[in-house]
Amino acid sequence: MLKIELLDSTHDRGGFDCGGEPLNRYLQQIARQHIAKGISKTFVLVDEDATPPKPVLGFFTISLCQVLGQQVPAKWTKKLPEQIPAMRLGRLAVATSHQSAGYGKALLVEALLRIGLVADLAGGVGLFVDAKDEGAAAFYKRFGFEPTGAALTLFMPMETIRRLAAT
Ligand SMILES: CC(C)(COP(=O)(O)OP(=O)(O)OC[C@H]1O[C@@H](n2cnc3c(N)ncnc32)[C@H](O)[C@@H]1OP(=O)(O)O)[C@@H](O)C(=O)NCCC(=O)NCCS
Repeated sequence: MLKIELLDSTHDRGGFDCGGEPLNRYLQQIARQHIAKGISKTFVLVDEDATPPKPVLGFFTISLCQVLGQQVPAKWTKKLPEQIPAMRLGRLAVATSHQSAGYGKALLVEALLRIGLVADLAGGVGLFVDAKDEGAAAFYKRFGFEPTGAALTLFMPMETIRRLAAT
């Protein structure tokens, strides 16, 4: 059965290939250090019945962030302070062997659920993502991410997150 869990030593990161070397390298060399240092959390999609180390089929990375009001689309910034707490979807990727099977969407929905939980406890106006290219941006926009002032930086307000997470 497929499961999304926090990256740890039982996962095989070495064989992961999403077609993007920086994303592969992040998972293989940096993600666990960032978890250990409290910088971000990386969650992986695995088949829980696989023999350990379980191959990683996909992953996403989330972290806290703080942005300036001007980085948020204008319609969401009314009466907000200059510095605004938010969350960041740092990375999301699916192994090329498993793309176009709904795993990217499943990972995004799980990320949104977790972002909603963080917001319940500590606030946050929404989720930012830096798409790596126009193709990735198209994927995110499909789910309701909105353009910001910066070309490939997209934003999803908390009310959209709550609506999507509830469906
Ligand atoms: C982008 C990526 C995460 C999508 O994952 P995936 O598992 O292939 O996508 P899914 O099968 O879950 O697709 C979900 C929906 O999004 C659509 N979709 C997928 N990629 C898309 C794209 N680039 N643009 C627009 N829509 C896209 C699918 O058609 C599908 O639509 P449907 O629900 O109507 O069937 C994956 O292709 C990937 O890892 N690419 C390389 C790394 C990358 O670009 N990551 C983005 C982070 S910067």
